[in-house]
Amino acid sequence: MKKIIIINGPNLNLLGKRETNIYGSLTFTEFFDTVVSKYANVTLEHFQSNIEGELIDKIQEVGFTYDGIVLNAAAYTHTSVGIGDAVKAITTPVVEVHISNTFSREEFRHQSYISPNAKGVILGFGLQSYELAIESFISGS
Ligand code: DQA
Repeated sequence: MKKIIIINGPNLNLLGKRETNIYGSLTFTEFFDTVVSKYANVTLEHFQSNIEGELIDKIQEVGFTYDGIVLNAAAYTHTSVGIGDAVKAITTPVVEVHISNTFSREEFRHQSYISPNAKGVILGFGLQSYELAIESFISGS
C-alpha cells in the first residue's frame, strides 16, 4: 500500500471556523475522515503544526520513505526558505496544495518557496485540492 501524508501548516487547525468564506465550514478532521474512507487503498496520515521547525522535522522524517507528501505550508509557503530547502532535500515527491486560489488574492500570496521543488501544484479547488493531490499519487508513477 502506498504511504501518503498530508502536512498542514499554520492556522489550518482552525479550518471550519477560520475565514469560512475562503476556507469553508468543514473542520480538517471531518474532511480527513471522509478522505480516509474514500481512499482505502492507500495508507493516509495527517500532521499539522503551527511551528515552522516542526514542519521541517516532519518533512525530513517522512521524506525518504513515504510515497508522497501533500503539503499545504499555508502562510509559510510565502516566507519559508527553510521549508523550501527541506522539500528540495528529500526524495519523496511533494505536491503543493492550497485551498484557495492564491493567485486571485494578495500579491504576497503569489510567491511560493515550495513550488520550484514540488512535483506539482494544485490550488483553488477548496478541500478538493487535497483529494486531487492524493489521486495524483495513486494514479501517477
Ligand atoms: C492557504 C493560502 C495561504 O496564503 C494562507 O496563508 C493559508 C492557506 C490555502 O490553503 O489557501 O493559510 O495555504
